[in-house]
Amino acid sequence: MNALEINNLIMYYELFGGNKLMAINNISFSVEESKTTGIVGESGCGKSSIASTILKILPDNAKIINGNIYFKYGEIIKRSGKVDLLTLDKKTMQDIRWKGISMIFQGAMNVLNPVYRVGDQIIEIMRYKDNISKEEANEKLEDLCRIVNIDSSRMKDYPHQFSGGMKQKAIIAMALSTNPKLIIADEPTTALDLISQYNILEQIKKIQKKLNMSMIFISHNLFTVSNISDQVVVMYAGKIMESCEKKKLFENSLHPYSIALIKSCLSINDKKNKLYGIPGEPPNLVFPSSGCAFYPRCPYAKEICKKIEPEYKEIEKKHFVACWRYI
Ligand SMILES: Nc1ncnc2c1ncn2[C@@H]1O[C@H](COP(=O)(O)OP(=O)(O)O)[C@@H](O)[C@H]1O
Ligand SMILES: [Mg+2]
Repeated sequence: MNALEINNLIMYYELFGGNKLMAINNISFSVEESKTTGIVGESGCGKSSIASTILKILPDNAKIINGNIYFKYGEIIKRSGKVDLLTLDKKTMQDIRWKGISMIFQGAMNVLNPVYRVGDQIIEIMRYKDNISKEEANEKLEDLCRIVNIDSSRMKDYPHQFSGGMKQKAIIAMALSTNPKLIIADEPTTALDLISQYNILEQIKKIQKKLNMSMIFISHNLFTVSNISDQVVVMYAGKIMESCEKKKLFENSLHPYSIALIKSCLSINDKKNKLYGIPGEPPNLVFPSSGCAFYPRCPYAKEICKKIEPEYKEIEKKHFVACWRYI
């Protein structure tokens, strides 16, 4: 069963002068219940735009022109099975945010207000969303501290008294405080040192298992994504190039972009060989050329790759790829 299903989503940002920047260019993927789908790709490929589209927190110049985002949620499920988030009114969407889907933002450190105690900020979200008493909220805060592994006495501190890793744990506690069914974590560890990154990742993994949540985990770092995910989605220039189970990505990745991404990540840890970077640059999203987005950088590019975009096809169970080599 899927907790979330995205079908043929297309979203662009309108720029000054009327040009369109195609940030999400016809993508489809799903998140299974109690599982994690990871999204990986170079900076600027559209990962955060997907997160903002799901939560409908896009800026005014963003235009969604196609697609559905199906999500199973509370009362609405009872009525209709699943609901297309893109069709919901503001009020229902507000209800779904935090309680149905909550988010750990990129650069989350700035989410905490410096003039309020950390614990009070988490309690405020719980009381606003769940309408519970102060006593209940305090009890729940104690539970959350145990879950994210912060000493509850520290909840009386202000954000500046927290280290980077602790702030991130507090943000995770905040995201969990409303018992969401789905968490979207967008680069939650990118700003942290390596040891804190590792600790936070392990923490998130444990929490997700314990609370049986579904998760979308976004990062530009392939190792981080594959460490935590069940299914991995590889994005390039607003499109999905390949999606498969984590194990498959390393054992049998098919798309030349995934292969290059793995090679460049592995070379970082390989002291003997030179660092490998993918030659060339990501394409311009304002005037996308025809054909496959990766063909200018692809060592296997053929004539057809320049002209016609390959179909995104399921070539074996849960393994999708968009590449002319496999059609
Ligand atoms: N508000 C906006 N207006 C115009 N372009 C935007 C806006 N937000 C993001 N973009 C552009 O959309 C593309 C995708 O951005 P983003 O989703 O943030 O990528 P990622 O999270 O993978 O780094 C980038 O080219 C970025 O510059
Ligand atoms: Mg981003």
